[in-house]
Amino acid sequence: MKIGVLASGDGSNLQAILDKLHGRGDVDVVAVGSDKPGARALQRAAEADVPARVFEVEEFGGRPDRDAAIADWLEERGAELVVLAGYMQLLDPAFLARFPQRVVNVHPALLPAFPGIGSVEQAVAYGVKVAGVTVHFVDEGVDTGPIIAQRAIDVPEGADAAALRLALRPLEHELLPAVVEHLARGRVTVDPGNPRHVRVA
Ligand code: GRF
Repeated sequence: MKIGVLASGDGSNLQAILDKLHGRGDVDVVAVGSDKPGARALQRAAEADVPARVFEVEEFGGRPDRDAAIADWLEERGAELVVLAGYMQLLDPAFLARFPQRVVNVHPALLPAFPGIGSVEQAVAYGVKVAGVTVHFVDEGVDTGPIIAQRAIDVPEGADAAALRLALRPLEHELLPAVVEHLARGRVTVDPGNPRHVRVA
C-alpha cells in the first residue's frame, strides 16, 4: 500500500514508519507533507529519499485551497492511505471526502479522554493513573473518529508532562506502524452496522 504522511514537527512517528515498514513489502511511503517549513519530518523524508513538500497556508489563501493542493499531490503520488503523524492542523472536510476511511491519526491520550492539543499536560493535571495512546480514523471533529487501536501504561509515580510524554513515545512508535501494516494487509474492517466499531483481525 502506498501511503502519504503529514507531519508538523519532529517526525519521530514518521521515522518509526520509515524504519519498520517502508520498502519492506507491504508499505511504501510515497509522500511526506508538512504545514511547517522547518519541520524535522521533512529532513527525515529526504534522508529516506521520500518526496517531501511544504504546504504553508499563506501560499494558498486559506485552508480549503491548501488542503485541496495537498490532496492533489497525494493523489498524484498514488497515496491510498494518509497517516497524520503529529500533523497539528485540522483537515478540510473536502479533503476527508477524497480519502474516505483512509485517513488515520495518532494521539497521545486514551480517547475520548483529552482530545486536542495539550492532552498529555491535561492528563497529568487531572491526575490520571493510566495513560496511553490512540490510533483512530479521522473524521471532521477533533480526535473524534472511530478508534482502531489503543495502548495503555500506568503513569509513573510523580511523572510530569515531559516524563509522561517520553513514556508514551515507544507506545506510539509501536502502535502506529502496527496499525498501518494491518490496514495495508486489509485486516481492518469497520462494522457496517455500527461504524464506531472497528475490527482488527
Ligand atoms: C505525537 O505525540 C502524536 O501523538 C501527536 O504529535 C506528536 C508528534 O510527534 N499527535 P512526532 O512529530 O511524530 O515526533
